[in-house]
Amino acid sequence: MKIGIDKIGFYAPHLYLDMTRLAENRNIDPDKFTIGIGQEKMAVPPMTQDAVTLAANAAVDMLNDVDKEAIDFVIFGTETGVDSSKSAAVYVHELLGLNPYARAIEVKQACYGATAGIQMAKAHIAMNPGSKVLVLGSDIARYGLSTPGEATQGAGAVALLISAEPHILAVEDESVYFTADIMDFWRPVYSDKAFADGKLSNEQYIAFFSRVWEQYKTKADLELNDFAAVCYHLPYTKMGYKALKTVLDEGNEEVQERLLTNYKLSTVYNRNVGNIYTGSLYLSLLSLLEQTNELTAGDRIGMFSYGSGAVGEFFTGILQPDYQDYLSIERHNALFASRSEVTVSEYEAMFDDALPTDGSAVELEIDSDPARVCLAGIADNKRQYVNKEKNTTL
Ligand code: CAA
Repeated sequence: MKIGIDKIGFYAPHLYLDMTRLAENRNIDPDKFTIGIGQEKMAVPPMTQDAVTLAANAAVDMLNDVDKEAIDFVIFGTETGVDSSKSAAVYVHELLGLNPYARAIEVKQACYGATAGIQMAKAHIAMNPGSKVLVLGSDIARYGLSTPGEATQGAGAVALLISAEPHILAVEDESVYFTADIMDFWRPVYSDKAFADGKLSNEQYIAFFSRVWEQYKTKADLELNDFAAVCYHLPYTKMGYKALKTVLDEGNEEVQERLLTNYKLSTVYNRNVGNIYTGSLYLSLLSLLEQTNELTAGDRIGMFSYGSGAVGEFFTGILQPDYQDYLSIERHNALFASRSEVTVSEYEAMFDDALPTDGSAVELEIDSDPARVCLAGIADNKRQYVNKEKNTTL
């Protein structure tokens, strides 16, 4: 039985900051951000969006009634969740109106959470072939104003419907994963901003990729020539390129050209959204699939997942017949086209604006946020979520 990705949904907030404007404001050569780091626009979340709403918005248009009935497991990967106890998956389960006979959990290991979710989903479906699993990767990446990490911030979510006989990508069984305790990037519970040892994080990302790739080739008896494309976790789009470069000479000229072309296509969405942590690898896959007409059924795509701290995994998927029919290119084009630019000072004000942390209540203005699902405020220490279409408040 094939198991894998049946549908992919994506959401980013309706506001963005142009990286050239940010560079000019910070007295940095814009080429550093657009070429050296490889980012053009950074999604900026309004107060009315958090990890829960971003994920719900990524899934809300993707699921039909049959899916909602069949989903019996919601796995929410995030490193910027909103509650230390209640899982973000439970909120999304309600906001989307899913079958109550379901499990709903949150998974954390930095940017690796959604990959763990996919592998758990695969095992669940192997035992329960009729069920479907909703895997979410949703985050707001924050490093701080005028920090080295600032150019690699972002916000957004990817929703993956995992099922038997999937229409987009069948996930293959061979995979290699690796864990080592390192401090390359972390966020203590008292901080709403991440800490990063930038140089170490870049080195470890590549070291983890080398380890899992070398082991994978032996375990699966495959080589670079067997791949139509390799997608990477993209904290910024230059990062995956640095990792790809380390293995490119394993392929012949034609393979190198193919992998480089497809790498570029796999970065288009990420370049315009920024780092979305858990969803980044899957946004890259989505970008590749929605930007090319060259990939065909049977093509193998490699996936490198990296979650700082750190866990890395290399796994693969096979494209399914007519996979293009199951993508939502128009919806995603419309989402990008409808975004509005904010100035650097507007972005800075939004960055510094924070929800109360002293237990006081707040009501947020949700009419200016075009998203279907919004955070409407906090009352009695409870987040108040609204699905404007369902007209429900949680
Ligand atoms: N024109 C063109 N390129 C230029 C340039 C210019 N004028 N000026 C600089 N550059 C290039 C540099 O040569 C460099 O390229 P290479 O990496 O290819 O050498 C690139 O721009 C970046 O320059 P610096 O290394 O000087 O940049 P920095 O030290 O200020 O910050 C960073 C870069 C370390 C990635 C920083 O943004 C950061 O700390 N980000 C957060 C951590 C991160 O994303 N780590 C990635 C791996 S960890 C991970 O993947 C998990 C995760 O999601 C966080």
